[in-house]
Amino acid sequence: AAAPLVDTFGRVHRDLRISLTDRCSLRCTYCMPAEGVPWIASPDLLTTAELVRVAGVAVEQAGIDELRLTGGEPLLRPDIVEVVAALAGLRGPHGSPEISLTTNGLRLPRLAGRLADAGLARVNISIDTLRPDRFLALTRRDRLADTLAGIEAADSAGLRPVKLNAVAMRGVNDDELVDLVRFAAERGYEMRFIEQMPLDAGHTWDRTSMVTGQEILERLGAEFALSALPGRGAAPAERWLVDGGPATVGVIASVSAPFCGACDRLRLTADGQLRSCLFARSETDVRALLRGDADDAAILAAFASCVAGKLPGHGIDDPSFLQPDRPMSAIGG
Ligand code: GTP
Ligand code: 5AD
Ligand code: SF4
Repeated sequence: AAAPLVDTFGRVHRDLRISLTDRCSLRCTYCMPAEGVPWIASPDLLTTAELVRVAGVAVEQAGIDELRLTGGEPLLRPDIVEVVAALAGLRGPHGSPEISLTTNGLRLPRLAGRLADAGLARVNISIDTLRPDRFLALTRRDRLADTLAGIEAADSAGLRPVKLNAVAMRGVNDDELVDLVRFAAERGYEMRFIEQMPLDAGHTWDRTSMVTGQEILERLGAEFALSALPGRGAAPAERWLVDGGPATVGVIASVSAPFCGACDRLRLTADGQLRSCLFARSETDVRALLRGDADDAAILAAFASCVAGKLPGHGIDDPSFLQPDRPMSAIGG
């Protein structure tokens, strides 16, 4: 029988976000510098057998029923199709976990069909702008067309609902929110706008320049009739019906309106560290356990200890807030 992962605030954890690599094919200015960051050394990365073992304990014995693959860019993992197939083969007390993936989309034209066949349920794709010149400035790569092709490939492969993510940035794409909603709505995708969080490698985040969820809603409300959708659950996004539907839009206001109180997520980094939060100050080393011939009970205990240390929230508003030592690309989105 599975022992649920309940923290000291009563939150039950059902969602494990697994980072497959810290590397990326883009260089978004809000994420990493042009030259990249010091990458995790290959021997330190969990092998596929290792990460599947950790996920197996989580699914079979700890009540995890959602697995989200992240990066860096998860599709850069050479054996991504095998990773998905192995995870899709896991069975917990409630059946197979739902497997989803958050990606920049560039490799989806080649991979979407095979990923769907391997058991991937759906994808979230980052697209911060629809203008090629802006895409180049923002990601430092001239690949808007590839992202667009990736979105189409995901849809054609049935990886639905397709959700599109844009980090709202002042003076960069904040005049494009309406265009992005129209683009998504015309094609049956959900557009979501994200408040920028203090997780970039360069530590350049600044609250005063952050575009808030409220500001995003005001801009959208000037163009569309928005009606709030109930049933948010533990999801970061608040959702609205656009002009009576069927199109929907989401706003992820993690900074100004945190959903930490309902958080049901844990993270496993590509180098095998468990984290109770994006902003956690400590990590639990499962890689050392895996490579030290630990049994499943010891891995389960690592999950329990990680969850026991989970703080009530991200603490960004505390005067003593410190950005995590690792950037988002190394933690997993
Ligand atoms: P769905 O299950 O499809 O709704 O995905 P999601 O919105 O939870 O995940 P996605 O990977 O698309 O991430 C969207 C944004 O939410 C990104 O900016 C993530 O960094 C952020 N996010 C995801 N999980 C957490 C979390 O636990 N805490 C915070 N603060 N932000 C998160
Ligand atoms: N704050 C919020 N979202 C971010 N993302 C990347 N960096 C940040 C940040 N600092 C987004 C990506 C992607 C998702 C995984 O997180 O654009 O859509
Ligand atoms: Fe890559 Fe995502 Fe970072 Fe952009 S935000 S550089 S797509 S990891």
